[in-house]
Amino acid sequence: MSTARVRATAFPKLTLSLRVLGRRPDGFHDLEALVVSLGQPHDVLEAYAVPAPGGVQLELGPSNTNDDIPSDHRNLAFVAAEKLMVRAGRSGHGVRLVLRKRIPAGAGLGGGSADAAAALLAVRRLLEMDIDDEGVREVAAEVGSDVPFCLRGGAAWMRGRGEIIEPIDLTRGLAFVVAIPPFRLATPDVYAAWDALGGPVAERSVPAPRRVAGLVPDLANDLEPAAEAVEPRLVEFRAALEAAVGGRPALLAGSGSAYVVPVHDARQLPDLVREVSQRLRVPVVGTTSVSRGVRLDR
Ligand code: C5P
Repeated sequence: MSTARVRATAFPKLTLSLRVLGRRPDGFHDLEALVVSLGQPHDVLEAYAVPAPGGVQLELGPSNTNDDIPSDHRNLAFVAAEKLMVRAGRSGHGVRLVLRKRIPAGAGLGGGSADAAAALLAVRRLLEMDIDDEGVREVAAEVGSDVPFCLRGGAAWMRGRGEIIEPIDLTRGLAFVVAIPPFRLATPDVYAAWDALGGPVAERSVPAPRRVAGLVPDLANDLEPAAEAVEPRLVEFRAALEAAVGGRPALLAGSGSAYVVPVHDARQLPDLVREVSQRLRVPVVGTTSVSRGVRLDR
């Protein structure tokens, strides 16, 4: 027996603090990161059970991003669904995934990882698989460093290469302006630049919102100097963004390229978003932190 369709909403992740501790023998980097899920922009993934062909098909639905998103093994949602089906002994079943992207690619918001987490939970429910949360977490860690966090979402410390999650109690509703520059960054390039620069630490920091200050006094991102080395236009973009929000400081999201501005009062978001989009002419969203990474609806 299986359900005909499952719909999942995949929420982006924002790294509030990112410390890169060093390069590991396997080429990944050990991290200590404070991360939260954001409510916007989010992706929607629908999973359908199809009689034939067996295996996974992925289709991209209408989207408001112009990104060139692959629909094969280069897409983490595809990989996640396939790995889960193999693990559950269900690879002969037919699953069609339809993904509507809103989270920009190459922005450091974990969109691909969020889609993978959504695919895992949606396909498990679609095929009513006999696989527990721990099993799903193991598959998530194989798919990518950020997928275990996205599976759970909310707020957490991420350690190891990202797969060690320590959930924290951080009230949701932290407010941010998220601005997307007209260029993208590839995570492996940014980590390679971090290595080439000799493992720099963040040169700037942003005062933590009051509710975060007990966890980290300042928000800083060790990948920022590396991201700026890969894409020097980030410096000018950040300066323009900070000027547009009345001098509030901005934080690089993950490995970039998005910048976010923490805002103390969510009621200020609509005015700030209007100001930034008028001045910078780029996609901008006002959003708050949410308590989960994926929402499943039948
Ligand atoms: O795990 P994932 O495949 O998402 O990582 C993408 C790339 O980001 C890796 O190939 C690696 O270059 C870099 N990375 C890293 N250390 C991490 C996470 C990612 O070096 N902890």
